[in-house]
Amino acid sequence: MALELTELHDDFGAEIAGIDLANGIGDALFEEIELAFNCYSVLVLRGQTLDDDSQIEFSRRFGPLEIATPTYANTGEVTPIGRVSNVDADGNKLPADHTRVKYLTGNLMWHSDSSFKETPALASLLSAREVPPEGGDTEFVSQRAAYARLPDNLKAKIDDLVVIHDFVFSRGKISEDAVTPEHEKLVPPVEQRLVRTNPMTGEKNYFVGSHAHLIAGWPEAESRALIEDLIQRAVRPEDIYLHRWQPGDLVIWDNRCVLHRGRPFDADKYRRVLHRTTVAGAGPSLVAG
Ligand code: OGA
Ligand code: MN
Repeated sequence: MALELTELHDDFGAEIAGIDLANGIGDALFEEIELAFNCYSVLVLRGQTLDDDSQIEFSRRFGPLEIATPTYANTGEVTPIGRVSNVDADGNKLPADHTRVKYLTGNLMWHSDSSFKETPALASLLSAREVPPEGGDTEFVSQRAAYARLPDNLKAKIDDLVVIHDFVFSRGKISEDAVTPEHEKLVPPVEQRLVRTNPMTGEKNYFVGSHAHLIAGWPEAESRALIEDLIQRAVRPEDIYLHRWQPGDLVIWDNRCVLHRGRPFDADKYRRVLHRTTVAGAGPSLVAG
Protein backbone atom coordinates (compact mmCIF):
# COMPACT_ATOMS: atom_id res chain seq x y z
CA MET A 1 0.00 0.00 0.00
CA ALA A 2 1.33 3.45 -0.87
CA LEU A 3 0.89 6.06 1.86
CA GLU A 4 -1.58 8.86 1.19
CA LEU A 5 0.82 11.79 1.65
CA THR A 6 0.20 15.53 1.42
CA GLU A 7 3.26 17.74 1.74
CA LEU A 8 3.13 20.40 4.47
CA HIS A 9 5.99 22.67 3.42
CA ASP A 10 8.27 22.90 0.37
CA ASP A 11 11.25 21.75 2.45
CA PHE A 12 9.83 19.06 4.72
CA GLY A 13 6.76 17.63 6.43
CA ALA A 14 3.89 15.43 5.27
CA GLU A 15 0.40 14.66 6.45
CA ILE A 16 -0.56 11.01 6.20
CA ALA A 17 -4.23 10.12 5.75
CA GLY A 18 -6.08 6.83 5.88
CA ILE A 19 -4.39 5.23 8.88
CA ASP A 20 -5.94 4.36 12.25
CA LEU A 21 -3.09 3.70 14.67
CA ALA A 22 -5.28 2.79 17.64
CA ASN A 23 -6.16 -0.55 16.03
CA GLY A 24 -2.50 -1.44 15.52
CA ILE A 25 -0.71 -1.58 12.17
CA GLY A 26 1.33 -4.23 10.39
CA ASP A 27 5.09 -4.26 9.83
CA ALA A 28 4.89 -3.40 6.13
CA LEU A 29 2.86 -0.27 6.83
CA PHE A 30 5.22 0.72 9.62
CA GLU A 31 8.19 0.42 7.24
CA GLU A 32 6.51 2.91 4.93
CA ILE A 33 5.88 5.29 7.81
CA GLU A 34 9.50 4.95 8.93
CA LEU A 35 10.74 5.74 5.43
CA ALA A 36 8.45 8.78 5.28
CA PHE A 37 9.79 9.85 8.69
CA ASN A 38 13.36 9.69 7.38
CA CYS A 39 12.47 11.58 4.20
CA TYR A 40 9.99 14.19 5.47
CA SER A 41 11.18 14.75 9.08
CA VAL A 42 7.71 15.76 10.35
CA LEU A 43 4.63 13.56 9.97
CA VAL A 44 1.08 14.59 10.88
CA LEU A 45 -1.70 12.04 11.40
CA ARG A 46 -5.07 13.52 12.24
CA GLY A 47 -8.09 11.91 13.87
CA GLN A 48 -6.18 9.38 15.97
CA THR A 49 -7.94 8.14 19.09
CA LEU A 50 -4.84 7.13 20.97
CA ASP A 51 -4.72 6.39 24.67
CA ASP A 52 -1.39 6.14 26.46
CA ASP A 53 -1.04 2.40 25.87
CA SER A 54 -1.66 2.58 22.12
CA GLN A 55 0.62 5.63 21.85
CA ILE A 56 3.39 3.73 23.65
CA GLU A 57 2.87 0.61 21.54
CA PHE A 58 3.09 2.52 18.27
CA SER A 59 6.03 4.68 19.46
CA ARG A 60 8.05 1.59 20.42
CA ARG A 61 8.12 0.52 16.79
CA PHE A 62 10.64 3.34 16.22
CA GLY A 63 12.90 2.05 19.02
CA PRO A 64 13.29 2.10 22.80
CA LEU A 65 11.53 4.96 24.55
CA GLU A 66 13.04 7.49 26.89
CA ILE A 67 11.58 7.65 30.36
CA ALA A 68 9.98 11.07 30.84
CA THR A 69 11.73 13.32 33.34
CA PRO A 70 9.59 13.48 36.51
CA THR A 71 9.13 17.25 36.05
CA TYR A 72 7.40 16.65 32.74
CA ALA A 73 5.43 13.63 33.83
CA ASN A 74 4.59 15.68 36.93
CA THR A 75 3.24 12.72 38.85
CA GLY A 76 6.64 11.40 39.97
CA GLU A 77 5.62 8.19 38.20
CA VAL A 78 8.22 6.44 36.02
CA THR A 79 6.60 6.38 32.59
CA PRO A 80 7.45 7.00 28.95
CA ILE A 81 4.51 9.44 28.75
CA GLY A 82 5.53 13.07 29.12
CA ARG A 83 2.57 15.30 29.92
CA VAL A 84 2.95 18.59 28.08
CA SER A 85 0.11 20.22 29.88
CA ASN A 86 -1.17 22.93 32.17
CA VAL A 87 -3.56 20.37 33.67
CA ASP A 88 -2.40 18.06 36.46
CA ALA A 89 -2.80 14.27 36.47
CA ASP A 90 -6.13 14.61 38.33
CA GLY A 91 -7.52 16.87 35.62
CA ASN A 92 -7.24 20.18 37.49
CA LYS A 93 -6.00 23.18 35.54
CA LEU A 94 -2.88 24.72 37.05
CA PRO A 95 -2.40 28.49 37.18
CA ALA A 96 -0.09 30.03 34.56
CA ASP A 97 2.42 30.99 37.25
CA HIS A 98 2.64 27.42 38.61
CA THR A 99 6.23 26.05 38.55
CA ARG A 100 5.35 23.19 36.19
CA VAL A 101 3.57 25.49 33.74
CA LYS A 102 6.46 27.98 33.82
CA TYR A 103 8.94 25.14 33.34
CA LEU A 104 7.15 24.22 30.12
CA THR A 105 7.77 27.72 28.75
CA GLY A 106 11.27 26.39 27.97
CA ASN A 107 9.49 24.75 25.02
CA LEU A 108 8.87 28.20 23.51
CA MET A 109 12.52 28.37 22.46
CA TRP A 110 13.61 26.60 19.26
CA HIS A 111 14.98 23.24 20.37
CA SER A 112 15.51 19.57 19.68
CA ASP A 113 14.16 17.27 22.40
CA SER A 114 16.85 15.68 24.58
CA SER A 115 19.76 17.21 22.66
CA PHE A 116 21.19 17.76 26.16
CA LYS A 117 21.32 14.00 26.77
CA GLU A 118 24.37 11.95 25.88
CA THR A 119 22.16 9.92 23.54
CA PRO A 120 19.91 12.55 21.97
CA ALA A 121 16.38 11.63 20.89
CA LEU A 122 15.52 10.09 17.55
CA ALA A 123 11.85 11.02 17.46
CA SER A 124 9.11 12.65 19.48
CA LEU A 125 5.45 11.71 19.11
CA LEU A 126 3.05 14.29 20.47
CA SER A 127 -0.65 13.54 20.63
CA ALA A 128 -3.25 16.21 21.28
CA ARG A 129 -5.86 15.36 23.89
CA GLU A 130 -7.19 18.86 24.73
CA VAL A 131 -6.23 22.03 22.88
CA PRO A 132 -7.02 25.73 23.40
CA PRO A 133 -9.33 27.44 20.87
CA GLU A 134 -6.60 30.01 20.17
CA GLY A 135 -2.81 30.02 20.60
CA GLY A 136 -0.71 27.04 21.62
CA ASP A 137 0.37 26.13 18.08
CA THR A 138 3.68 24.33 17.51
CA GLU A 139 6.21 25.38 14.87
CA PHE A 140 8.77 23.23 13.07
CA VAL A 141 11.78 23.94 10.84
CA SER A 142 14.26 21.73 9.01
CA GLN A 143 17.96 21.99 9.80
CA ARG A 144 18.49 19.72 6.78
CA ALA A 145 17.06 22.34 4.40
CA ALA A 146 18.98 25.01 6.32
CA TYR A 147 22.24 23.10 5.95
CA ALA A 148 21.63 22.70 2.22
CA ARG A 149 21.23 26.49 1.93
CA LEU A 150 24.58 27.27 3.58
CA PRO A 151 27.38 28.65 1.42
CA ASP A 152 30.11 26.06 0.77
CA ASN A 153 32.70 27.87 2.90
CA LEU A 154 30.38 27.79 5.93
CA LYS A 155 29.61 24.10 5.36
CA ALA A 156 33.36 23.39 5.30
CA LYS A 157 33.89 25.46 8.45
CA ILE A 158 31.25 23.63 10.49
CA ASP A 159 31.49 20.08 9.14
CA ASP A 160 33.78 18.69 11.87
CA LEU A 161 32.74 20.84 14.83
CA VAL A 162 31.48 19.51 18.15
CA VAL A 163 28.87 21.37 20.18
CA ILE A 164 28.36 21.30 23.94
CA HIS A 165 24.66 21.05 24.78
CA ASP A 166 23.65 21.99 28.29
CA PHE A 167 20.20 21.88 29.88
CA VAL A 168 21.24 24.13 32.75
CA PHE A 169 22.32 26.73 30.19
CA SER A 170 19.02 26.60 28.28
CA ARG A 171 16.75 26.55 31.33
CA GLY A 172 18.84 29.39 32.83
CA LYS A 173 17.23 31.55 30.14
CA ILE A 174 13.83 31.09 31.87
CA SER A 175 14.99 31.69 35.42
CA GLU A 176 18.04 30.97 37.54
CA ASP A 177 16.21 28.44 39.68
CA ALA A 178 14.40 26.61 36.83
CA VAL A 179 16.58 23.55 37.46
CA THR A 180 16.84 22.25 41.03
CA PRO A 181 20.29 21.16 42.31
CA GLU A 182 19.16 17.48 42.29
CA HIS A 183 17.93 17.79 38.71
CA GLU A 184 21.15 19.58 37.70
CA LYS A 185 23.21 16.53 38.74
CA LEU A 186 21.26 14.42 36.22
CA VAL A 187 21.97 16.71 33.25
CA PRO A 188 25.71 17.44 32.92
CA PRO A 189 26.79 19.12 29.64
CA VAL A 190 27.26 16.70 26.72
CA GLU A 191 29.05 16.82 23.37
CA GLN A 192 27.13 16.44 20.10
CA ARG A 193 28.28 16.43 16.52
CA LEU A 194 27.28 19.69 14.81
CA VAL A 195 26.73 18.09 11.39
CA ARG A 196 24.82 14.81 11.28
CA THR A 197 24.01 12.44 8.44
CA ASN A 198 20.77 10.52 8.10
CA PRO A 199 21.80 6.85 7.93
CA MET A 200 18.92 5.94 5.60
CA THR A 201 19.05 8.79 3.07
CA GLY A 202 22.65 10.07 3.47
CA GLU A 203 21.37 13.65 3.80
CA LYS A 204 23.23 16.02 6.08
CA ASN A 205 21.92 18.58 8.54
CA TYR A 206 23.23 20.69 11.33
CA PHE A 207 22.05 20.24 14.89
CA VAL A 208 21.66 23.22 17.21
CA GLY A 209 18.76 24.67 19.27
CA SER A 210 18.27 26.18 22.71
CA HIS A 211 20.40 23.61 24.54
CA ALA A 212 23.39 24.18 22.23
CA HIS A 213 25.73 26.29 24.35
CA LEU A 214 29.33 26.30 23.10
CA ILE A 215 31.48 25.00 20.27
CA ALA A 216 34.08 22.66 21.80
CA GLY A 217 37.46 24.41 21.88
CA TRP A 218 36.05 27.82 20.88
CA PRO A 219 35.73 30.96 23.03
CA GLU A 220 32.25 31.81 24.28
CA ALA A 221 31.62 34.88 22.08
CA GLU A 222 32.51 33.10 18.82
CA SER A 223 30.58 30.02 19.91
CA ARG A 224 27.44 31.98 20.66
CA ALA A 225 27.71 33.95 17.41
CA LEU A 226 27.96 30.80 15.27
CA ILE A 227 25.18 28.92 17.09
CA GLU A 228 22.84 31.93 16.93
CA ASP A 229 23.66 32.44 13.25
CA LEU A 230 22.82 28.81 12.47
CA ILE A 231 19.55 28.99 14.41
CA GLN A 232 18.53 32.21 12.66
CA ARG A 233 19.33 30.76 9.23
CA ALA A 234 16.93 27.88 9.96
CA VAL A 235 13.96 29.80 11.39
CA ARG A 236 13.11 32.54 8.90
CA PRO A 237 9.32 32.93 8.64
CA GLU A 238 9.24 31.15 5.27
CA ASP A 239 11.09 28.14 6.73
CA ILE A 240 8.38 27.36 9.29
CA TYR A 241 5.61 24.77 9.24
CA LEU A 242 3.08 25.89 11.85
CA HIS A 243 0.88 23.16 13.26
CA ARG A 244 -2.56 24.20 14.50
CA TRP A 245 -3.64 21.45 16.84
CA GLN A 246 -6.95 19.64 16.79
CA PRO A 247 -7.78 16.96 19.37
CA GLY A 248 -6.74 13.60 17.90
CA ASP A 249 -3.70 14.97 16.07
CA LEU A 250 -0.50 12.98 16.32
CA VAL A 251 2.66 14.77 15.19
CA ILE A 252 5.89 12.82 14.85
CA TRP A 253 9.17 14.64 14.32
CA ASP A 254 12.79 13.73 13.73
CA ASN A 255 14.79 15.36 16.52
CA ARG A 256 18.04 14.60 14.69
CA CYS A 257 17.28 17.27 12.10
CA VAL A 258 14.18 19.29 13.12
CA LEU A 259 13.87 22.22 15.50
CA HIS A 260 10.51 22.97 17.05
CA ARG A 261 8.98 25.41 19.48
CA GLY A 262 5.64 25.88 21.18
CA ARG A 263 3.74 29.14 20.77
CA PRO A 264 2.18 30.93 23.74
CA PHE A 265 -1.44 30.60 24.80
CA ASP A 266 -3.49 31.94 27.68
CA ALA A 267 -2.77 29.30 30.31
CA ASP A 268 -5.03 31.01 32.85
CA LYS A 269 -8.00 30.71 30.52
CA TYR A 270 -7.52 27.51 28.54
CA ARG A 271 -6.62 23.87 29.09
CA ARG A 272 -3.94 22.31 26.90
CA VAL A 273 -3.08 18.62 27.24
CA LEU A 274 -0.67 16.85 24.92
CA HIS A 275 1.04 13.54 25.66
CA ARG A 276 4.54 12.96 24.37
CA THR A 277 6.53 9.82 23.87
CA THR A 278 10.19 10.18 22.98
CA VAL A 279 12.19 7.56 21.11
CA ALA A 280 15.85 7.36 22.13
CA GLY A 281 18.53 7.81 19.47
CA ALA A 282 20.92 5.09 18.33
CA GLY A 283 23.69 6.37 20.65
CA PRO A 284 25.80 9.47 21.35
CA SER A 285 25.91 11.50 18.12
CA LEU A 286 29.73 11.53 18.17
CA VAL A 287 29.57 7.74 17.77
CA ALA A 288 26.25 7.09 16.03
CA GLY A 289 26.26 10.10 13.67
C1 OGA B 1 7.48 19.11 23.20
C2 OGA B 1 7.38 20.54 22.85
C3 OGA B 1 5.86 22.27 22.20
C4 OGA B 1 4.41 22.53 22.39
O1 OGA B 1 6.46 18.52 23.57
O2 OGA B 1 8.58 18.56 23.08
O3 OGA B 1 8.37 21.18 22.67
O4 OGA B 1 3.86 23.27 21.56
N1 OGA B 1 6.15 21.00 22.74
O5 OGA B 1 3.83 22.01 23.34
MN1 MN C 1 10.12 19.82 22.64
